[in-house]
Amino acid sequence: MPRSMKAAVHTGESDRLDIVSVELDDPKTGEVLIRMGASGVCGSDRHVVDSEWPMPTPTVLGHEGAGVVESVGAGVTTVSPGDHVILSWFAPCQKCRSCAEGKSWACTRTRSVECVMPDGTTRHTIEGKQVFPYLGLGTMAEYTVAPESAVVVIPSEVPFDVASLIGCSVTTGVGAVLNNARVTAGSSAVVIGCGGVGLSVIMGLALAGAHPIIAVDISTEKLDAAVRFGATHTVVAGDTMVAGIKEIVAEGVDYSFEAIGRVGSIEQLPLITRAGGTAVIVGLPPVGHRATIDPLSFAELGLTLIGSNYGGSVPLVDFPRIAELYLAGKLPLDDLISDRVGLDDVNEALDAMRRGERTRSVIVF
Ligand code: APR
Ligand code: ZN
Repeated sequence: MPRSMKAAVHTGESDRLDIVSVELDDPKTGEVLIRMGASGVCGSDRHVVDSEWPMPTPTVLGHEGAGVVESVGAGVTTVSPGDHVILSWFAPCQKCRSCAEGKSWACTRTRSVECVMPDGTTRHTIEGKQVFPYLGLGTMAEYTVAPESAVVVIPSEVPFDVASLIGCSVTTGVGAVLNNARVTAGSSAVVIGCGGVGLSVIMGLALAGAHPIIAVDISTEKLDAAVRFGATHTVVAGDTMVAGIKEIVAEGVDYSFEAIGRVGSIEQLPLITRAGGTAVIVGLPPVGHRATIDPLSFAELGLTLIGSNYGGSVPLVDFPRIAELYLAGKLPLDDLISDRVGLDDVNEALDAMRRGERTRSVIVF
């Protein structure tokens, strides 16, 4: 039975989300209906609301979510009603060469980025007009329908608010360290930007045994949080950032991470990375932004630059792995959540993010 549900919708005409009623169709073959338990408010949602990334509109926002399987369409074999699940915002086709190589984040046939199901349609409408779930998920709603390959079962002991964050920021940050950079114990590291993603990078670094771990942000509140997640040193962002880092590690660090999506900070990575070291781009800038590097010193220093998309994760592998690490007390994911809010408070949560406040707001249903 199609259902009416409350959802946060981006019309494309304003930076305010509208909380409106959206019709959701039943799951079709290979699709799953999920009752949402929680949805994080992520930096990528803000990119869309602030029109930095063009998306088909109207869009049900949200891509960092967890919930319970309500029903499944024909042919679904890996999840059942009642399962607790985390949603992946990159539904892999599981058939292309990248998927076969275990690089599902590089799937060439996913349609998630078009905000549609694998068959090119959506289950969401308002008064009969098509609505697009952001990244094929649209988690800022009471329910959603997602492709089976985007639905990953996790232990039911993991609370939904924590589980939702594993769906994006935590996997992106921890994965950048463990999957992309493959940081080894005793390596030195800098993380520029300590929002939900940057703090997850710091947690990953602590788990990998990196030392020192230097956190950089404009907000002292975020730097205090960074220390709680394992940063050993903090440096306030600004003109003295490079000098501040060099006071701690004279030659620069083995691994530098940018977790804002700000070109000015990305351009500073080669300046704080030691010869032979690795710089990792985790933050995603607005479409069309360009960064400048000095190729001569980049080559002379023998630097490696890594682009990290979704933490190089395979959701079916990484979501349960991170959930188990959380349950074992090795990732303090509860502390990442600064605010639990209702769907009606989503605009306030986005405003706080624009001001650089709150480590993570999570919408709970
Ligand atoms: N220098 C240092 N830190 C800064 C600066 C700056 N010039 N400007 C902003 N910041 C900090 C903010 O204070 C905040 O702590 O960057 C952090 C950004 O965090 P969030 O807004 O919470 O964003 P987050 O969800 O962590 O995402 C960061 O990663 O996946 C991408 O699309 C996502 O591009 C976004 C990025
Ligand atoms: Zn995200």
